[in-house]
Amino acid sequence: MKVVVLTGAGISAESGVPTFRDADGLWEGHRVEDVATPEAYELSPTTVHRFYDARRAALLSVDPNPAHTALARLEQSLGDDLLVITQNIDDLHERAGSERVLHMHGELRSALCRACHGRHRWDHDLVDLPPCPGCGVTELRPDVVWFGEIPYEMDRIAVELARADLFVSIGTSGAVYPAAGFVRQAMRYGARTLELNLEPSEGTVWFHEARHGRAGDLVPEWVAELLAGVSR
Ligand code: APR
Repeated sequence: MKVVVLTGAGISAESGVPTFRDADGLWEGHRVEDVATPEAYELSPTTVHRFYDARRAALLSVDPNPAHTALARLEQSLGDDLLVITQNIDDLHERAGSERVLHMHGELRSALCRACHGRHRWDHDLVDLPPCPGCGVTELRPDVVWFGEIPYEMDRIAVELARADLFVSIGTSGAVYPAAGFVRQAMRYGARTLELNLEPSEGTVWFHEARHGRAGDLVPEWVAELLAGVSR
């Protein structure tokens, strides 16, 4: 059975990583247009760098929670039959042990060179404009997909959604496309669909089944069911 899991900020909430659209979420304290668009970066790279540098540094003080570790456990059983597509730019899936993770919105621990287009593992600040390790030009930007940009690996995602027998969406509001449309894509090709989220997402009606509660409770329960061979 092929399983595709889509994760969003809600899976990392119990680790202490702020979500975007909840009360106290990142978009309560910042205007999207000021920090998460190519235009913002053109206007004030320093503001944008400070925003992402702070979030990169904050990764050092958070740890994966039981939802991340349950998905890593599932991967140990399913191997290539599980793919986690995450909208998250944190590294908590990897730190929990997951290896088959696709970061469609990029990664905080990566820098993208605007000159040579190289992507480099990055654990430092970018605000002081360090040179690109590949070409030496000082054009490194956060390797994150901003509003108005095309997410990574959309071709591969389309293939994986078409092959999925089960599509599970975890901790995402369903407010941002193209990820919000994955449930309908998977369903069109015959997948069963399940939502695990704190509250009904914007796309909750598209799922065959929706369970509402904390990811740290719901995901380990669902993984245990799946591993026990209970098909829900
Ligand atoms: N367990 C499960 N779900 C939770 C939890 C939790 N502990 N806490 C919050 N949630 C749910 C919220 O109810 C909400 O529906 O997680 C969802 C988070 O939604 P958003 O903040 O909109 O985050 P996300 O869906 O990942 O945002 C998508 O928007 O701003 C962009 O690029 C950014 O990747 C991000 C994209």
